[in-house]
Amino acid sequence: QTEISRVRNLERIQMGGYEIEPWYFSPYPAEFTDVDLVYICEMCLGYFGSATQFRRHRHKCQLFHPPGNEIYRDANVSFFEIDGRRQRTWCRNLCLLSKLFLDHKTLYYDVDPFLFYCMTVRSAHGHHLVGYFSKEKESAEGYNVACILTLPQHQRKGYGKLLIQFSYELSKIEGKLGSPEKPLSDLGLLGYRAYWQEVIVDILAEREADGAPTLSIEDLGQSLAMTTNDVLHTLQNLNMLRYNNKNHVVVLTDAVLEQRERLKEKEKIKGKRFLEGSLLRDWKPPV
Ligand code: COA
Ligand code: NA
Repeated sequence: QTEISRVRNLERIQMGGYEIEPWYFSPYPAEFTDVDLVYICEMCLGYFGSATQFRRHRHKCQLFHPPGNEIYRDANVSFFEIDGRRQRTWCRNLCLLSKLFLDHKTLYYDVDPFLFYCMTVRSAHGHHLVGYFSKEKESAEGYNVACILTLPQHQRKGYGKLLIQFSYELSKIEGKLGSPEKPLSDLGLLGYRAYWQEVIVDILAEREADGAPTLSIEDLGQSLAMTTNDVLHTLQNLNMLRYNNKNHVVVLTDAVLEQRERLKEKEKIKGKRFLEGSLLRDWKPPV
């Protein structure tokens, strides 16, 4: 990558009634760098340099949801599973769009080896994309997420946590321990740390309330489909590891429990979002 390719090239984009300022470079065709506003169709993710062209397209566009199977639906959101090989154009458009908000990830022009899990909210006009993550069909490193993005107009509302939770629900069904592709961006790390802390503290607090013995690092990983490494680092960050005869012992400290209670209060006010893992019962890993 040359230095020049890192310079932000699109001025502004419009998508689904929002105007957004891109954060980073994305390799849209050169002619789009000269226009003030690039119009992006929130259904097919096609891009247009003028309002007229965009209006004309919207009259014709036949897409009302991401072009794949709806594999999850609850009262708030849906997830669609899209095969990069079968929906090349749509997935390339998604990669182009998300590169505007991703600094360091390589953009995969070759979308064939990936599945795309797209989260939407419903309206009378269709399923509106909120965020997604991509996943290699076969990851040698055992990654369960390649790229993950909440569209900027929807960030900080708890959707990122849902995307992360969904990626682990898939790993649970696959019977694998998953971890996101490294390196994570700063925002990616913040999102993952928040999720890891929450699920680990919740499972431990629940057991303590039931009077059950505490779990080992390996048991925690198995229950949450997390790698031992990610569990270990989360516990270390929370200062929840003690050593007993050279063995790790997981302890739930008052400080951690109090922090969790404060977070729960905040969630009550903001409205907590969580996925219903059991609704994914019929999902099978694509072959
Ligand atoms: N500053 C501080 N903490 C943040 C944060 C920010 N800007 N964004 C997320 N967090 C932490 C917070 O603890 C937050 O919980 P809170 O809002 O209750 O405080 C928690 O993460 C979950 O946030 P959530 O609203 O669920 O995440 P999101 O929908 O904003 O999505 C990302 C998180 C990472 C997907 C989103 O920031 C994103 O798309 N970033 C750009 C793309 C990217 O970098 N992806 C990762 C590539 S590896
Ligand atoms: Na990636």
